[in-house]
Amino acid sequence: MELSTALLLGLVLLGLLWWKWSRPKGFPPGPPALPVMGNMLQMDFTNPMKALRKFSQTYGPVYSIYLGFTPAVVVRGLKDLKEVLVNKGVEFADRPQSKMTEVITKYKGLVMAPYGRAWKEHRRFTLSTLRNFGLGKKSMEERICEESSYLIQDLKENKDTLYDPHFVIDNAVSNIICSIVFGRRYNYDDRTFRDILNIVHDNLKLSSGIWAQLYNEFGFLRYLPLPHWKIFRNIEIIFGFLRKVLEEHKKTRVPGQPRDYIDCYLEELDKDQEDGSNKSTFDDENLFTSVSDLFIAGTETTSASLEWCLLYMMTYPDIQEKCREEINTIRGDREHLDYEDRVRMPYTQAVLQEVQRFASIVPMGIPHSPIKDIQLNGYTIPKGTVIIPDLSSVHYDESQWKYPHEFNPENFLNEEGELMKVDSFLPFSAGPRSCLGENLARMEIFLFFTTMLTHFEFQCPDHKSPPDLTPVFGITRPPKHFKMRLVPHT
Ligand code: HEM
Repeated sequence: MELSTALLLGLVLLGLLWWKWSRPKGFPPGPPALPVMGNMLQMDFTNPMKALRKFSQTYGPVYSIYLGFTPAVVVRGLKDLKEVLVNKGVEFADRPQSKMTEVITKYKGLVMAPYGRAWKEHRRFTLSTLRNFGLGKKSMEERICEESSYLIQDLKENKDTLYDPHFVIDNAVSNIICSIVFGRRYNYDDRTFRDILNIVHDNLKLSSGIWAQLYNEFGFLRYLPLPHWKIFRNIEIIFGFLRKVLEEHKKTRVPGQPRDYIDCYLEELDKDQEDGSNKSTFDDENLFTSVSDLFIAGTETTSASLEWCLLYMMTYPDIQEKCREEINTIRGDREHLDYEDRVRMPYTQAVLQEVQRFASIVPMGIPHSPIKDIQLNGYTIPKGTVIIPDLSSVHYDESQWKYPHEFNPENFLNEEGELMKVDSFLPFSAGPRSCLGENLARMEIFLFFTTMLTHFEFQCPDHKSPPDLTPVFGITRPPKHFKMRLVPHT
């Protein structure tokens, strides 16, 4: 080939690449993207929030980045997040498609299901079943209090050691969603269950990492034994465990006497068969993915929140003591608090909310996507675009908080010490796609936390060095494993 032809071909190729990575007309601006990798090399996947904050200083609260070939719009700040999540909540209520989501969820279930009839019916069914189990034979509150007593028992047995609370808190929290969905709990010494929970955490970390992104972007990588394979190996183990639970349920159920969420779902399948119309969106695949979604979404988020609570209490013993005083005053002679007591406990509620604000456990939410071409902040966003709602951006916004960069419960209290409702507090997101487990999570955090504080004082192992508050970044942001000293309180 002659040099001039090669040069010409090179220029055409560069032109094509430039065209591919230049933003469509009307699309939000953003940092220049490299061919093939997009902006991925500019993101630190161990803490992408830093890069997202930096880009917004140049491009404003609504801007775009390229994740390989895929353009994504990042939305920051209260005004624009409210527009996406609430005011235009339905228009932005879809989830983006990706190869990994397709392979793992087949776009079924609750979390990654596309906006539409199946998602709506499953969300409604799940919310009402969670509510019914709260009102049924054993209330949600009773289940949590019973589990708290197992947790306290374990803490008591370990009071003379330096204690890593991660496994037991994780197990206790997961037992709540397991008892609602599968109708059973798992002992804290059950190695198989502990391994499953560890794999769930591992996958939440891996699925937001660079290998998962590369897998979604570059088809040929799918066949190479690279780190993304671990995600699928892990998924197979989690799914194997859930399949067994489902099979046991099908064998042991008594129609008309549902014990838990799975039984209620199987009743829906019976109804569909009886009426013969086969028009329902309830089917075996949706059952499986909904169960898996509830198990995964209901465990790590809440247990990470409780672990952060303990870490902050160890870091700020004066705040811990003030909480304990309020707990003891309201509890009186009773064994434990009731959930409704919280309305008389502004300080403890402010502390729990401050933990959620400061730790921002799901910092970038779960991606949304518009159901049609739509305008946002003067830009045109095409149907199907990946929208990243940066929830953590409002949690540290200097225009919204008294102490944005400090752990301080005063952020939620007015001059009279009353609890304030703060619009820029969005740990569970907002709008039609907001967290389905918000009420359950709030109840769990309040009851587990207050019971633990009633029985123990939590101290750093070494008074000279404060705990490490660096989070581990994934879809969620749990703290690193830590040890604590448990001082019994009577
Ligand atoms: C402190 C604990 C929790 C936090 C911080 C949290 C946070 C979130 C966030 C930010 C979302 C994304 C909302 C959006 O897309 O706009 C979400 C979705 C979801 N959460 Fe939670 N969550 C927690 C606990 C739970 C629990 C206990 C359950 C189980 C019952 C649960 C089930 C779900 C489900 C099913 C979705 C998907 C909702 C949908 O797409 O319609 N979460 N959560």
